[in-house]
Amino acid sequence: MEIARYRPGEDEEPVFQGYDVPLMADWAVLDGLNYIKDQLDGSLSFRWSCRMGVCGSCGMNVNGEPRLTCGTFLSEYGDGPVRIEPLKGFPVIRDLVVDIDDFLAKLSSVRPWLIREGEELPLSTEYAQTPEQLEAYKQYSMCINCLLCYSACPVYVLDPDFLGPAAIALAQRYNLDSRDMGDRFDVLNLDEAVWGCTFVGECTRACPKHVDPAEAIQRYKLTAALRSVLPWSKR
Ligand code: FES
Repeated sequence: MEIARYRPGEDEEPVFQGYDVPLMADWAVLDGLNYIKDQLDGSLSFRWSCRMGVCGSCGMNVNGEPRLTCGTFLSEYGDGPVRIEPLKGFPVIRDLVVDIDDFLAKLSSVRPWLIREGEELPLSTEYAQTPEQLEAYKQYSMCINCLLCYSACPVYVLDPDFLGPAAIALAQRYNLDSRDMGDRFDVLNLDEAVWGCTFVGECTRACPKHVDPAEAIQRYKLTAALRSVLPWSKR
């Protein structure tokens, strides 16, 4: 494995360091990284937690493609080398660890919660939904915030102000929820939001959870365009 090593402030630029790792049939790339960390070089820094494609913390560039390292097998790459770099488009904190503060701020900016208006109900009140109403937004709720879609997005990599695929898909997760009464037009109908997307579709291709952010963005473009002629139309 060839690993990008970089400590901003100490190193001038990233350098690749090579490590020999056993090629085991059932080893994911993350197992290789943990082997290096445990057996060869304890100074290597990277994030991971669940090892089962749920927490979204182990995303890295593997041979140039954004992948979950716990869900990508070393054997996919033959005898190697397998080149591991931090996710493209994010500032590097150290080695393979990137700064996600801006991403978290973008998620918050779309008001990712159920907005209710004009009601005073006890906390125990249930908001029932039919299976069809659940289906309308369910795919967007599968996002694990792994950042792969941002790293794959050519717009975000060139313009960090772009709201980006996961945040827009998250906004649609609530916009399309029958229980939500909110309006996210102010954060979505912007050049730095849906209108910045050039519909390359790499975000959808990169998503390990089969969310379709490209579809979410194009769909909201239609909503925003309709709203310019039908101002009362919200969804
Ligand atoms: Fe949690 Fe990979 S370690 S998604």
